[in-house]
This record gives sequence, structure tokens and C-alpha cells, in this order.
Amino acid sequence: MQLFEKQVDRYFRIFFLLFLLVLLGGITLFAFVSRPQYTEVGYSPIQPVAYSHKLHAGNLGMDCRYCHIGVEQSAHAGIPPSEVCMNCHARVKKDSPRLAKIRESYETGQPVNWVRIHRLPDYVHFNHRAHVLAGVSCVSCHGRVDQMVEVRQVQPLSMAWCLDCHRNPAPSLRPPELVTRLDWQPDRDPTEIGRELMARRGIKPPTNCSACHR
Ligand code: HEC
Ligand code: HEC
Ligand code: HEC
Ligand code: HEC
Ligand code: HEC
Repeated sequence: MQLFEKQVDRYFRIFFLLFLLVLLGGITLFAFVSRPQYTEVGYSPIQPVAYSHKLHAGNLGMDCRYCHIGVEQSAHAGIPPSEVCMNCHARVKKDSPRLAKIRESYETGQPVNWVRIHRLPDYVHFNHRAHVLAGVSCVSCHGRVDQMVEVRQVQPLSMAWCLDCHRNPAPSLRPPELVTRLDWQPDRDPTEIGRELMARRGIKPPTNCSACHR
């Protein structure tokens, strides 16, 4: 009788140990799978169409706003619909297999499933318009996109990163009409230019919690 109970006790212990292991494994796996990949510097997912910013924005010199029309008008920059690509690709490379998904999307009206790269958590308020109109260039936050074949994230998009600039924005400011000229080089001390712009236009980025967390 006693032997039997010991057996049960042992089985129970083994079972309990296994249960713990599976639980721990599950939690680790969940943390791994659900970790926010898109907030990582260097994140550069494979896109459904091999669209190159280096070719279009760099070599062909297209302005960012041709495709990202929301950038001056709204919170979101926006990803262009296939119609915008077809402005040219109805004629240029019109039979290229690399553009098959664009033609298909254009014909069916189903948007291309571009993989989102930059994404803030939902509890953070961010607005492109406020930054672009104040004279913060895309390059400050996205790097030299005009030299990237595949876009990758170059800044951490962390709270400390936002605040670093908000506390000292002058070096990152330029006349707003130059924000999409990613290769622009100031001809004098950029901090001086920034200070003048701040004084003239009353630029003062917020550092209070409720500005970014409403
Ligand atoms: C011909 C249209 C076109 C032009 C011009 C263009 N882009 Fe894009 N952009 C796209 C498309 C399409 C995507 C989505 C696919 C990708 O990520 O490569 C994109 C994605 C991006 C992303 C990543 C968005 C995300 O998912 O987080 C950034 C940042 C970006 N563009 C910045 C720029 C900048 C800066 C310029 C100007 C130097 C520019 N783009 C010019 C079409 C364009
Ligand atoms: C202003 C005109 C224009 C627009 C708008 C445009 N492209 Fe292009 N695209 C070109 C040119 C020019 C080439 C280079 C063609 C060549 O190599 O001869 C090209 C090449 C390409 C290629 C390579 C094709 C191949 O077979 O090598 C892809 C893919 C592409 N574009 C995708 C896009 C996508 C996606 C969009 C929309 C987000 C877009 N393009 C918008 C002009 C444009
Ligand atoms: C002050 C930093 C900053 C500047 C300046 C900036 N961006 Fe962004 N961008 C971001 C952040 C942060 C996100 C992610 C936003 C989110 O998740 O809501 C983003 C997302 C994007 C996206 C993808 C999602 C969307 O908003 O539709 C595109 C495309 C983009 N930016 C293009 C541009 C272009 C083009 C410029 C310049 C004209 C620019 N950005 C200037 C910080 C910036
Ligand atoms: C490179 C500099 C820079 C970076 C990086 C930056 N900002 Fe700003 N931010 C500014 C400037 C400049 C203004 C405009 C202030 C003005 O017009 O008075 C501004 C304004 C704002 C505003 C007030 C306007 C509005 O939309 O309500 C918010 C909120 C804001 N930023 C959030 C963010 C967040 C969130 C991040 C990080 C994801 C960020 N910023 C990163 C420079 C920056
Ligand atoms: C300029 C914009 C901005 C301001 C101002 C700001 N935050 Fe944040 N905060 C962010 C961003 C962006 C994140 C997301 C960080 C990430 O995803 O790594 C964040 C994340 C957080 C988080 C989540 C935990 C974490 O660190 O990731 C807390 C809590 C928080 N903020 C509290 C505050 C408090 C309290 C204040 C005021 C003292 C404040 N924030 C001011 C932009 C801001």
C-alpha cells in the first residue's frame, strides 16, 4: 500500500515538473513570437514587390511627397496605392515580372500587402505634419532612404530618442521646403540655423507626458 502511494507521489512530481517546464517554455516562446520586431533598429522585412527607393528617390530623383502624400497634411505619411506606380509602369517596364503584383493589384483593386516597418505602440501619439512643417527632415528619423534598396529602420523610435531631440531640436531643423532633400548640407553651423528658425517660428517641442500620451 505504501509503495503504491510513493509511486503515485513520484508520478505526480514528475508530472508537475513537466507541467512547469512546458509552461515556462510556452511563456518564453510567446515572449519571443510577440516581441515587437518592428521597433528594432535594422528591421528590414522582405517586401512583396522589389521596389527600390535607391532607384526611384535616389537615381530618378523623385520627391518623397510624390508617393507619401500624407506627410505634410496628416499624422500618417501613407503608402502609395498601385495607381501611383502605374502612372509610369503602365508604360515603363510594363511587362516586367517584377511588377506583376502591382498590375494585379491595379486591376483587382486589392492593395499590395506591403510589410510595415516603423510602428509606435498605440499609446503614443505621433504626427508627421507637425514635424515636417517645423522643418525636421525625413533623414533625421528614417536615415538616407534615398540610398536604400530596401528600407530599414535606423532609429530606435524609443521615448528617450524622441525626448533627446525635443530637448535640443536646433541641430535637426532646416527651412521646411528642404525636408525631403535628404542630401542637403547646411552652408553654416546647423545649430545657428535651427536657433533662428525656432525664434522666428516659435518652435518649441513638448516634453510633457500628455503631449505624446493622451
Ligand atoms: C515611387 C514612390 C515612392 C517614393 C518616391 C518614395 N517612396 Fe517611400 N515607400 C514607397 C513604397 C511603395 C513603400 C513600401 C515598401 C517599402 O517599404 O519599401 C515605401 C516605404 C517607405 C518607408 C517605410 C515605411 C514603413 O513601413 O515604415 C519610409 C520611411 C519611406 N518610404 C520614406 C521615403 C522617403 C524619405 C522618400 C524620399 C526620399 C520616399 N520614401 C520616396 C514608395 C515611395
Ligand atoms: C515617375 C515614374 C515612376 C513611378 C511613379 C514608379 N516607377 Fe518604378 N521604375 C521607374 C523607372 C524609370 C524604372 C527603371 C526602368 C529601367 O530599369 O529601365 C523603374 C523600375 C522599377 C522596378 C524594376 C523593374 C524591373 O523589371 O527591373 C520596380 C519593381 C518598380 N519600378 C516598382 C515601382 C513601384 C512599386 C512603384 C510605385 C510605388 C513605382 N515603381 C513607381 C519609374 C517609376
Ligand atoms: C520626427 C521623426 C520623423 C520624421 C521627421 C519623419 N518620420 Fe516618418 N515615421 C516616423 C515614425 C515615428 C513613424 C511610425 C509612426 C507610427 O507608428 O504611427 C513613421 C512612419 C513613416 C511611414 C510609414 C507609416 C505611415 O506613417 O504611413 C512612412 C511612409 C514615413 N514615415 C515616411 C516619411 C517621410 C517621407 C518623411 C519626410 C517627408 C518622414 N517620414 C519624416 C518618424 C518620422
Ligand atoms: C529630430 C527631432 C525630433 C524627433 C526625433 C522627434 N520630434 Fe517631435 N517634434 C519635433 C519638433 C521640432 C516639433 C515641433 C514643435 C513646434 O512646432 O513647436 C515636434 C513636435 C511634436 C509634438 C507636438 C505636435 C503634435 O503633433 O501634437 C508631438 C506630440 C511630438 N513631437 C511627438 C514625438 C514623438 C512621439 C517622437 C518619437 C517617436 C518625436 N516627436 C520625435 C522634433 C522631433
Ligand atoms: C516626445 C514624446 C514623449 C514624451 C514627451 C513622453 N513619452 Fe513616454 N513614450 C514615448 C514613446 C515613443 C514610447 C514608446 C517607447 C518604445 O516603444 O520603446 C513611450 C513609452 C512610455 C512608457 C512605456 C514603457 C516604456 O518605457 O517603454 C511609459 C510608462 C511612458 N512612456 C511614460 C511617460 C511619462 C511618465 C512621461 C512624462 C514624464 C512621458 N512618457 C513622456 C514618447 C514620449
